[in-house]
Amino acid sequence: MGAQDNQFHHDVIVVGSGAAGLTTALALADKLKVLVLAKGSLTGGSTSWAQGGIAAVLDSGDTFENHIRDTMVAGGGLNRQETVESVIERAPHAIEKLVQLGVPFNTDGSEGKGALHLTREGGHSHRRIVHVADATGWAVQSALLSAAEANPNITLVPDRAAIDLITGKHEERYSGSGRVWGVYALNQKTGRVDSYTARATVLATGGAGRCYVFSTAPRGATGDGIAMAWRAGARVSNMEMMQFHPTCLYNLEVKNFLITEAVRGEGGHLKLPPGTVGEGERFMPRFDERAELAPRDIVARAMDHEIKRLGLDYVHLDISHKPPEFVREHFPMINEKLLGLGIDMTKEPIPVVPAQHYTCGGVMIDLKGRTDLPGLYAAGECTESGLHGANRLASNSLLECFVFGEAAAADILENWDNFKEPPAVRQWDSSRVSDSDEEVVIKQNWTEIRRFMWNYVGIVRTTKRLERAQHRIRLLEEEVAEYYRHFRVSTDLIELRNLLQTADLIVRSALNRHESRGLHYTLDHPETMSEAQDTILVPR
Ligand code: FAD
Ligand code: SIN
Repeated sequence: MGAQDNQFHHDVIVVGSGAAGLTTALALADKLKVLVLAKGSLTGGSTSWAQGGIAAVLDSGDTFENHIRDTMVAGGGLNRQETVESVIERAPHAIEKLVQLGVPFNTDGSEGKGALHLTREGGHSHRRIVHVADATGWAVQSALLSAAEANPNITLVPDRAAIDLITGKHEERYSGSGRVWGVYALNQKTGRVDSYTARATVLATGGAGRCYVFSTAPRGATGDGIAMAWRAGARVSNMEMMQFHPTCLYNLEVKNFLITEAVRGEGGHLKLPPGTVGEGERFMPRFDERAELAPRDIVARAMDHEIKRLGLDYVHLDISHKPPEFVREHFPMINEKLLGLGIDMTKEPIPVVPAQHYTCGGVMIDLKGRTDLPGLYAAGECTESGLHGANRLASNSLLECFVFGEAAAADILENWDNFKEPPAVRQWDSSRVSDSDEEVVIKQNWTEIRRFMWNYVGIVRTTKRLERAQHRIRLLEEEVAEYYRHFRVSTDLIELRNLLQTADLIVRSALNRHESRGLHYTLDHPETMSEAQDTILVPR
């Protein structure tokens, strides 16, 4: 152990304290000691920001078959049927557990006491989204966190940025993959790098939305888990399937505030703003018979088309034709936020633009949450489980966190006796690095990546644009690697390295797909192939 290093040992390490991480930890903690690490605060992931809700078949007129079909249609047939069935059939149980944890889902008086109110979102053929007004994520995060805090077998440690997985080189499952024994993580308060070892490690680090300059995701969504797993030898898949949410608030100061899809679900219309040809036109019916309730890829592409065709900054989302009380009751958080910005959504339309929202691709996992690497599990947005395919159906992702968090925990518990104690691990060596003298390099590269990803790897792609992005990634790789070799790690540097790694995986995957399907739309291959195939990248 180096003079500045420390090693901590637990039964299981969970990296990430969102819906996936805390669900896993809670399911393990009856039997095992679990350490949960979080970058920054324990509530800093996307889970806290979720608005619309959680999809589950709870209405007597709805069926699992309907939900499965809607998921596969939205996913462009790229979904793995077995995964879709498994997740959707477990959804009512997941909601029941959340109710037991105290999540105060809205109920519907007209359906009798206790019946949960179900809202609707794009791509869903039925009302099936349970929600806590328009701030579902915060309620879920708070309930899970309270339960974890109350559990003596769970240790919650914020302000730790995992840097890399600790790996051995034996027990190979796929070529070159070593067993995982934990993580190296930066103490963001002291600057020290510690080793955290365990018999099993679970990645629950969320998505990579911040690869893009406009994203609804929180600042820490830099693809850390995906990049760490890839560097350690795990395969990733379908990284080209980046979801853009149609309705992010357009505001020069507030850049990433989501306006939930439930606004369209409850009757909101997308219109061309005043001062344009066709002003006030409700344009979605021109693009799809489901209009504003078509799946997200279709709505976002239609908006992008109209914005580019007419040279607009934004389009309008209008729900002011509904009674003011209805709007205030359904969307209290959004209404309050907008009022603070001088927009009264009960009386006037909201300016909106599409923005990156969800990472459909990620670390490949099986139905038990196992990655390619022995000892390494993953759950939630950092994974590609087969649920979302080429485009995630709205409100299916929190659900995925609950189902795979439990699945990973169940497999760890079942196989616990076969997991060995970690060997002595190599400590983090910071003897040859110094403090950075040029933080500006990090800022410059970060900005550059996010801009070219937006411009070249966005809603509509071409091979030429993707190649331009790849060329820039190659130039930056050299620069970031050199910086990483010479300077002490910081959160910004860890994130920049992961952002670049993830951008590379997205661009490579996009270049590998010679068709348009779901979220991947390229002008050079507008057709969809008859057979749906995953884009699987295998580390060297
Ligand atoms: P997160 O909740 O993002 O948590 C990631 C965790 O990993 C955090 O604790 C973070 O600190 C930690 N972490 C990351 N990197 C590191 C590192 N290097 N070291 C240590 N810790 C790390 N989905 C729905 O189903 N319904 C919705 O209504 C909905 N609304 C949404 C609204 C918004 C604005 C956004 C952005 C997303 C929404 N989603 C919704 C998507 C959904 O919120 C996410 O997919 C889901 O919450 C992801 O949960 P997670 O546990 O995988 O990751
Ligand atoms: C939203 O509320 O529109 C987000 C729902 C989701 O991303 O699933």
